Amino acid sequence: MTRRGYAPDYLSVQGVHAPRRLILERLVPQDASDADALPTVVARSRIGVRLLTSARHAPMPFTVRNVESDEIHFIQSGQVRFDTEVGSLQAEEGDFVCIPRSVAYRYAPIQGAMRSMIVECPSAASLTPPAPFGMINFARDVRYPKIDRELDAGGPGKLVLKTADEEVTTFVVPHDPLALGAQLSTAVPVWKLSLASIQLHTYEPHGGPPSMFLSTRNGESLMFNLSARSGGRPPVHVNADFDEVILYVRGPGAYGACTEPGTLTWVPKGVIHHGPSEAVPDGYQAWLLETRATLRFTPEALAASELMETGNYGPHPTAAA
Ligand SMILES: [Fe+2]
Repeated sequence: MTRRGYAPDYLSVQGVHAPRRLILERLVPQDASDADALPTVVARSRIGVRLLTSARHAPMPFTVRNVESDEIHFIQSGQVRFDTEVGSLQAEEGDFVCIPRSVAYRYAPIQGAMRSMIVECPSAASLTPPAPFGMINFARDVRYPKIDRELDAGGPGKLVLKTADEEVTTFVVPHDPLALGAQLSTAVPVWKLSLASIQLHTYEPHGGPPSMFLSTRNGESLMFNLSARSGGRPPVHVNADFDEVILYVRGPGAYGACTEPGTLTWVPKGVIHHGPSEAVPDGYQAWLLETRATLRFTPEALAASELMETGNYGPHPTAAA
């Protein structure tokens, strides 16, 4: 069907299931000033999928183990050192770092500050591009942590277990659980991949939907590189199955009304939307999370964000007013 009016328009809205945009800089996470804090929750859902953000100035003085979710950390800015139970790695702006459920880790900004966006999925996440090669060069671009023998095994230390009820349980342990001895297997479950190295998939000349590069085992969450690509603008549509979360990472080009690096947009499932053109000659970087979870912004995220129009993903006129 076609419609006679421009369907994404709305005059006003009341209630929690309404599209929003959040410039991450406007939400200062607790861990920015309190080294003992965990990342701040941006959105949560009934099925355990959560979005969080972190902006540390100091290293984590404890080790954390998420016992119920895989965590995908996207580094929006800064350089971050991750020490994990399977080795250490350094992540840069634009990198995804996947830490599967029950792998203990901690991280630290390398030069003063960092900002990350974290997706927590209760179902195991893995790289699942539509063809085994082409979109991701696994041999060249997927990196794994390595043992750092310089890590001091001395303690005591704190090991924090994170659970889905958002309680924390803290063990005091005599040794650093991340001080490793030898690697006994070639399989390392933690990985790093830069957004820029994920090649774009399009259907000439109309564009078509993007292709996922990551999915969870039960298919509840999918991730896509939504950076600039050739093709037409998406059709006006309703996503019957998924909430759509897009992080506009940086330009130079704009993604519709998204021009500030680190702008998160959320269109809940069933809300009609259009979406900006992705055919931007200057280029921009962005990624998309589609999740069957019905997300709900936290009070902190609601306060820092604004209502969004679903044509070009700018502030809704009532928000601007
Ligand atoms: Fe959509």
